[in-house]
Formats: sequence, C-alpha cells, structure tokens
Amino acid sequence: MKARQVRPNVYWVGAIDWDRRLFDGLIPLPDGTSYNAYLIQGSQKVALIDTVNPPMAEVLMAYLEDVPVIDYVIANHAEQDHSGSIPHVLAKYPGTKVVTTPKGKEMLVSLLLVPEDRFIAVGDGETLSLGDRTLEFIHAPWVHWPETMLTYLREDKILFPCDLFGSHLATTDLYVTDEGQVYEAAKRYYAEIMMPFRTSIEKHLEKLKDFEIDIIAPSHGPLHSKPSFIMQAYRSWVSDPPKNIVVLPYISMHGSTQKMVEYLVEALAQKNVTVKQFNLAVTDIGKLAMALVDAATMVIGTPTVLVGPHPNVAYAAFLANALRPKLQFVSIIGSYGWGSKAVEQLRALIPNLKLEVLAPVISKGFPREEDFKALDDLASTIAEKHKQRGFA
Ligand code: FEO
Repeated sequence: MKARQVRPNVYWVGAIDWDRRLFDGLIPLPDGTSYNAYLIQGSQKVALIDTVNPPMAEVLMAYLEDVPVIDYVIANHAEQDHSGSIPHVLAKYPGTKVVTTPKGKEMLVSLLLVPEDRFIAVGDGETLSLGDRTLEFIHAPWVHWPETMLTYLREDKILFPCDLFGSHLATTDLYVTDEGQVYEAAKRYYAEIMMPFRTSIEKHLEKLKDFEIDIIAPSHGPLHSKPSFIMQAYRSWVSDPPKNIVVLPYISMHGSTQKMVEYLVEALAQKNVTVKQFNLAVTDIGKLAMALVDAATMVIGTPTVLVGPHPNVAYAAFLANALRPKLQFVSIIGSYGWGSKAVEQLRALIPNLKLEVLAPVISKGFPREEDFKALDDLASTIAEKHKQRGFA
C-alpha cells in the first residue's frame, strides 16, 4: 500500500474504519472513524507516530512493508485504538524504541505487556532528533487519559495531538474539506470524550499559543490545514459561557410525563428559551451529549418505576454527571402513581455538577391545573435566571 504524503518525508499510514458503530461499548459512531498513524523519515532516524486499532494492524503493517527500519514509535496515548498495534511494530523491528511519557510507559507495560527495555521515557519539552527533523514532546495529561502527550514536528510546524482535536469520521479526505460536517463530528467527539477534561484542555490551549502550527494531524478524522478552525471551536466549547438553552432528556411510560414535557417545552419556547428535547427511548445518546456542551439548564423528565426514576433516565443523569458540562441549573419533572423517591435518587446521581436546583414539578397521576401552573412558574424561573446571567 502507498502511504499518503502530508509533507515531504511525512506520511499518513493509518486505517479507516468505515463500519465501526460503537466505541468503548458506549459511544455511538454514526460516521465510523479512523486511526491515524504517521511516518516521519528523517535524514538519520525514522519515527512512527502512534499506531492503529489492533483489528486493523495488518493495514498499518502493509504500509510499513517496504520500510526497512523504524527507530522510534512515538506513543502519544496508551489507549489501544492508538497503541494496540505497537507489539506488531516491535515484533517486526527488534531495534525500535517506544517513546512516551513516564506514565505512558507504565501504562503500556501493563496494558500491552511491552518489555521495559523497549522504552525511552521523555519529559515535558524534551526533544528527539531525527537528523533534519526534530520532535518536541508536550506533556498534556487528560486528553484523554492521564499519560497523554502531544508531539510537535518543529521544521514542518505539524502538531500530532492524538485524541485532542480529533473527530470520529471515516473519510478518504486527508484534510478537512467540508467544515460543517467536521464541525459536527468534532463537537460530538468533544462532547463524548473530551468534555470531562475541560479545565485541562483550557490549560493545553494556552500552552499551544507558544507554538507556530501549520497543520494539526490528529489520530481520528481528517487533518486540519487551517488549525484556527478547530482551535477556535475548542476555545468556544471549553471556555464560552453556556447559552440560553435547556436540555430535556425524558421518558414517559403512560403519557403523564410526556404531557408535562410538551407543556414545559411550549412554555419555554414562548419565553424564547431554546429547548433540546430527547426522548430517551429513541434518542442517540451522542446527540444528548452534544446538546450538553452549550446548555445552561437541564430539566430531567421521569415517570416513577419501583419508587425511583426510570432506569434510562437514571442512565442519562449518570452520563451527564460524568461528562461535567457547563450546566448551571437543573430541575426534575415527572409523575408517580402511589409513591416516589425519584427526585432524591436523581439528585444523588449528579454530585459532580455544581448546579442550582430549581423547584421540581412532580404530579400524582396525570397532570392537573396546579401542575401546569407549576410548570409555567418553572419556565419563568429558567428564563429569568438565564437572563440574569446574560446567557444569549
Ligand atoms: Fe482514540 Fe483515547 O483513544
């Protein structure tokens, strides 16, 4: 197979996974993904940056068929979709060293059983010469595990950030061509994978201001020849205040919660609050995660099942808690037949979210006039709170 040239002596040697639909048994991938690896042939040494998901190792090895020597495998991240084919590379090239952070070494020893003597552990800011090319390593913990680093190819001004700035998108385009499509895919990727690490990403973005970057070459999705496009998007997702948006995940079993959701959505819309409504019986959980990126308020709608919230609603609350979005307010609406601890149980599921809790509205059976009045009050409170905080 013929590698694709990024710059003279810098090649893409990755694998496109058109059919993958789920990541980590959790994250939907409606558009597949890619595992990007890069080969850099310096005048004295050859480096491979990251590898590919192990089931596609033969794709990478086919690209390397005519490469006689690889001196270094740069492991930016120990997760197996990038590191999993390192053992194949080490088996073919007995002299190859794995270059990674000290924490990355520890993780690769434990996850892939790579022998300790195959590693070079590098510090933050350390460099490695390939002859006419220089690699600089930038420690960047928590994008997306604690061991992660970014690699900067100085002479070509290319940043290899592994997961950071990636998108789960299978495409034959080496570079971004359709910015709208990539924006959506990158936002989904950020929401599902990067959002819990917002604070760390903010610091990494600040650090990257010191680097002149012509190309961002992530390990998922197409490369960015206009780095400002994705960096500006990240700055906005990470640092901008939330918007005048309510996210409303819910389930209804017999129509009572459905009626309350419809009423509240209409009341909020009348007050010019944008609502993103997700019936958890049919929704793509990735879309819900994307909506959480910008939302100021989450209203959870649930019927009562065995005294608690519906399990799908509990799952959505658990997920929102794990993703740590910029939400500022939360409320709960729903119904019960004879007794409920749904509100208490749901609140206990979101301890990471430092939210102001707005008065829940829970109806006994089908909602009546006083319940609709309480929903009107909730809509007014949300609209007023958003206005007070200046959420546009
Ligand atoms: Fe694409 Fe965290 O691995």
